[in-house]
Amino acid sequence: MAWNYRTIIEPFKIKSVEPLPFLSRGQRQRALERAGWNLFHLPASRVLLDLLTDSGTNAMSGMQWAGMMQADESYAGARSFFRLEKAVRELTGFRYVIPVHQGRAAERILFSFLGGRGKIVLSNTLFDTTRANIEFSGARAVDLPIREALDFDSPYPFKGNLDLQAFRQWIRRHGASRLLCVVTLTNNSLGGQPVSLQNLKGIRALCRRHGIALFLDAARFAENAYLIKLRERGQQRRTSREIARQMFRLADGCLVSGKKDGLVNMGGFLALHNPQWAQQARNMLILTEGFPTYGGLAGRDLEALAQGLEEVLDEEYLKYRIRSIEYLGMGLLRAGIPILRPTGGHAVYVDAGRLLPQIPRHRFPAQALACHLYLEGGIRAVEIGSLMFGRKARAELLRLAIPRRVYTQSHMDYVIEVFSRIHRKIHRIRGLRILEAPRVLRHFSARLRWV
Ligand SMILES: Cc1ncc(COP(=O)(O)O)c(C=O)c1O
Repeated sequence: MAWNYRTIIEPFKIKSVEPLPFLSRGQRQRALERAGWNLFHLPASRVLLDLLTDSGTNAMSGMQWAGMMQADESYAGARSFFRLEKAVRELTGFRYVIPVHQGRAAERILFSFLGGRGKIVLSNTLFDTTRANIEFSGARAVDLPIREALDFDSPYPFKGNLDLQAFRQWIRRHGASRLLCVVTLTNNSLGGQPVSLQNLKGIRALCRRHGIALFLDAARFAENAYLIKLRERGQQRRTSREIARQMFRLADGCLVSGKKDGLVNMGGFLALHNPQWAQQARNMLILTEGFPTYGGLAGRDLEALAQGLEEVLDEEYLKYRIRSIEYLGMGLLRAGIPILRPTGGHAVYVDAGRLLPQIPRHRFPAQALACHLYLEGGIRAVEIGSLMFGRKARAELLRLAIPRRVYTQSHMDYVIEVFSRIHRKIHRIRGLRILEAPRVLRHFSARLRWV
């Protein structure tokens, strides 16, 4: 049936509910004061809508909960591991499946033997933990996003793409033997933007010609596949599953944090073709995560992840998911709030630098906006700007990440309404200054005050 109504219908019924805490403005003010104007310090019980992250905040299905009850908790050779292995093999085509407790464990394991001094990892843009694990191994991490990725108004549909011209230059200058490539799908650090199949094929061709190993950081593989289906010429008739399978088959391996498109709260995996790499990875896994058939997870987590990988490629789910993000983005634009366009897979990024021109970067405009969003409506979001990255910040963004299957269209309407109210008094918003902060990753624990 062609379903062409404007209303977004969540493709599920709600069987289990969790009440939301409604606080008065005074209570929110006191909570934020106690948190030192840093939303990471807020207890979740003080937050009405939590848009801090889409990672590990998913709602699971009845099938996933049922699978958890039936899971096999054997130490070695658990049935639930084989179920996950089968699901990952069918999806990715990789023979060796190595479960880990979350994405960064896969990163640490892979780069412990493929990274190291002298190696260079090229990427469209590495996520922070991926970069940190690469650099920790002694290797160098380099981002090569396309030019359009940094132009927030460009309607370019695949801003997650890697700059192939720049890639060729790195091969020419440094020689292929030192290089590795990691493509992040979707590109979380630059707006959750997708990578096109055409770009992936171009990267594959270069890597194959020069013998460079290609990995996908595929935490949001299903959202990327659906955005290809929507936006790339010739892909409309294919299923998201077919597209996802093709994406994985272009690479030598993948790192997956299951906390995003695995539709679980904890879990992940590393999957590879190469038996020597798999052996090295398993040796490391035993040392730091656990036996190769559980890798830091309970049998019930393996079971839930296997089921989640099936459910996430449902076309009705993906349609609802991507349309909800777009719906929120369009609503904010109509309310006069500038956002990074086009909207991508898992979040809407508000351009706080442009919205609050009266606040200089060192007074953290996006953090000021985050505080007002909480004060006005109890909504928690995250600053991605000068508080997080210091002088290296490329822009002053506020990310509204949407947990999967958790909120409905009316929750999104509420977010838009709260932003409209803030917009009316936008010129009155002041900046913040840091009272105390550690030297690294200061955004997690800094305490601030209004200037
Ligand atoms: C693109 C990407 N890669 C890797 C990770 C790390 O995964 P985890 O948080 O499961 O360690 C994340 C987490 O947000 C991510 O967004």
